[in-house]
Amino acid sequence: MNANMVQSNTMESKICLITGATSGIGKQTALELAVMGAAVIVVGRSPEKCTRTAEEIMQQAPSANVDFLVADLSSLEQIRKLAEEFHRRFSRLDVLVNNAGALFLRRQLSVDGFEMTFATNHLNYFLLTNLLLDTLKASAPARIVNVASKSHLQSPLDFDDLQNEVDYGLRKVYGRSKFANVIFTYELAHRLADAGVTVNVLHPGLVVTNMGKNNGLVAKIFQPLYLKWRGIPVEEGARTVVYLVSSPEVEGVTGKYFYKEKAIDSDPATYVKEDWKRLWEISERMTGLADA
Ligand SMILES: NC(=O)c1ccc[n+]([C@@H]2O[C@H](COP(=O)([O-])OP(=O)(O)OC[C@H]3O[C@@H](n4cnc5c(N)ncnc54)[C@H](OP(=O)(O)O)[C@@H]3O)[C@@H](O)[C@H]2O)c1
Repeated sequence: MNANMVQSNTMESKICLITGATSGIGKQTALELAVMGAAVIVVGRSPEKCTRTAEEIMQQAPSANVDFLVADLSSLEQIRKLAEEFHRRFSRLDVLVNNAGALFLRRQLSVDGFEMTFATNHLNYFLLTNLLLDTLKASAPARIVNVASKSHLQSPLDFDDLQNEVDYGLRKVYGRSKFANVIFTYELAHRLADAGVTVNVLHPGLVVTNMGKNNGLVAKIFQPLYLKWRGIPVEEGARTVVYLVSSPEVEGVTGKYFYKEKAIDSDPATYVKEDWKRLWEISERMTGLADA
């Protein structure tokens, strides 16, 4: 983590909540926003890692305003508790960065019985955003930034197999979850038109982080080697996230897919509007939002 960046006060007095901020792209984003003067809320699943991350940020940016909230974002109950805790402690939210994500070599289920990649990478973004949406709207102008991946390319969601029960494969299942991030963003932008809250989605590049290390010894050894060989440093990987959160250039821009600070086309299959609505409605039912 490196705070070697230009200081700017564009983010002063903004409250930014960043999930998956105990490692990789999220951690770097939290640091950079703190350096810019934002009040940063680190979200992580380990209290120890959250404390360590907050301390590291404070070391590099001594005047930073850093707080943290703890939740395992693969659990719907913990996401709800996180949102409740947020509402108890904060009254506004200027920026939500949905970034926490993972990939899983073997199919496993979340505590709620959903396939783990779908739960962690999609239902997490969907539920947390919806639970914080009223506060974001009340804090307008506000921004939501969803970290997806170019792995969504050619990985359309299979609505007949959302729980990835057929021919489970890490790349396919991860790609589908990132496809879900993209179409969730497009549907949300559509629903938020004129609400003063923008939402964009991005591919950060192939970035040297801890991604994939949860998949046993072989992954722990080879994943870092591969990423170091092909990947970009985390400072570069966080660039488009920080840009979408803070740049005046994207004020009012919404419903776009970005790479290297430029809006580009996502996979052609992500532009099917019926699928945006379909995923939204299914996700509402799965997360219990439909009953609220
Ligand atoms: N690295 C890449 O090349 C790359 C490329 C495209 C997209 N992305 C996307 O970038 C995002 C960030 O990943 P990264 O590369 O920075 O990986 P990372 O270093 O592994 O960071 C992932 C973060 O998500 C958190 N997380 C994972 N599962 C969680 C859960 N169940 N509950 C709460 N937090 C959880 C991790 O917490 P712990 O610290 O506790 O593990 C960590 O803070 C992901 O959405 C990923 O899909 C990454």
